[in-house]
Amino acid sequence: MSVENKVVVITGASSGIGEATAKLLAKNGAKVVLGARRENRLQEISQDIKENGGQAAYRVTDVTNPDDLKALVALAKKEFGAIDVIYNNAGIMPTSPISALKTAEWNMMIDVNLKGVLNGVAAVMPDFTTQKHGQIITTSSVAGLKSFIGSGVYGATKFAVRNLMEVIRMESAKEQTNIRTATVYPAAINTELLQHISDESSKEGMDKLYKSVGITPDAIARVVNFAIDQPEDVNVNEFTVYPTKQG
Ligand SMILES: NC(=O)c1ccc[n+]([C@@H]2O[C@H](COP(=O)([O-])OP(=O)(O)OC[C@H]3O[C@@H](n4cnc5c(N)ncnc54)[C@H](OP(=O)(O)O)[C@@H]3O)[C@@H](O)[C@H]2O)c1
Repeated sequence: MSVENKVVVITGASSGIGEATAKLLAKNGAKVVLGARRENRLQEISQDIKENGGQAAYRVTDVTNPDDLKALVALAKKEFGAIDVIYNNAGIMPTSPISALKTAEWNMMIDVNLKGVLNGVAAVMPDFTTQKHGQIITTSSVAGLKSFIGSGVYGATKFAVRNLMEVIRMESAKEQTNIRTATVYPAAINTELLQHISDESSKEGMDKLYKSVGITPDAIARVVNFAIDQPEDVNVNEFTVYPTKQG
């Protein structure tokens, strides 16, 4: 079973990487179910997909709320009769030095980037286990592979999801439930991600980097499409994606 006709739930689908992935997968015949908090953006993107001949549904979703994820998966089954893939992509990156003690932002990153992914996993696991088929893809970051100044907590959440995806893959093989997992580690991708950085020195450095080397989010969409498109007995699980110009 390739991308065509697969039912794919995408979180963080209202902009950036999630939006680009939803549009590419829909163009390739997937039925996409979009979740994020900004309804107007979800509405516009799903309208655009439909006008281009694709199939899409959406629901306002806050990934920090487990019931929202359950409802998003329920919508996929109601609209399209199945759930084949969840792409846990919603995330925030308010980077700052630890000494700045932006503890509210630390907690928000843990809630969205880590607990939000866990909520997505919990929402699909019962169906995936019963049907013995499914795929869980998560957006980590290069900050989930190595340490960066300013990314103490952001990186901690992104390191954590790497472990989670790998353990799910291993446990599924042991339990023979055929659940595939993949983790994507993007570097500088031009999206709305930097807009929420409140620490001025972090924002300035990031803005400069992204302006000079950043690439468009369809680079990540193509990788997610590739992971989904593999035969069911093939689990491709780790993708690091840098702009060619980024050192
Ligand atoms: N851009 C990069 O360079 C880069 C590099 C490495 C990793 N990443 C990761 O890529 C993922 C996507 O980010 P992006 O770069 O595409 O940035 P973006 O344009 O800011 O997109 C982030 C998405 O997450 C959603 N989101 C945030 N909080 C949410 C919540 N509580 N519940 C539901 N959705 C929420 C946002 O939608 P709403 O605001 O409408 O809820 C938005 O759709 C993130 O996990 C990020 O950490 C990005």
